[in-house]
Amino acid sequence: MSLIEWDSTYALGLKDVDEHHQHLVSQLNRLYDGIVYNETVDVDDVFIELVEYAKNHFDLEEKLMLDSKYQGYKSHVEKHSEFISNILELQNKYHSGNAYVDTDTMLYLKDWLFNHILKADKKYLRSIQLLQENKIVSVVKLLTQLSQLVIIV
Ligand code: FEO
Repeated sequence: MSLIEWDSTYALGLKDVDEHHQHLVSQLNRLYDGIVYNETVDVDDVFIELVEYAKNHFDLEEKLMLDSKYQGYKSHVEKHSEFISNILELQNKYHSGNAYVDTDTMLYLKDWLFNHILKADKKYLRSIQLLQENKIVSVVKLLTQLSQLVIIV
């Protein structure tokens, strides 16, 4: 049984970001299945993959936010660091056999999905859309200027 079913309502409309989120959801589900249901999942490997993948994903988002001069950059980066710290903490709890890790994991991962992807990530979307719109306007202006030059020549 999956912890989270990917749904199109989670999509932000940014191809790479959405693919990353889908992959992260799939890793979270594997982790959940491995810890809660003791399914044949190498939990240690999933923890390592999850941290690596999340770091790559956060690097991409942070670059997009910087490029688009997103005002909430700093607090968003703090959320990313918090996520990595929390996953590493869960990994330690898992290794120490903490009895509450199942519930903690489930609640934390669900909370992260709903609060981060659906709220925090959606907030930077407008800055990126404005950046893309500005790029389109710049290209249109350039093409207009070029076409005027061609007429003059
Ligand atoms: Fe998609 Fe801010 O993590």
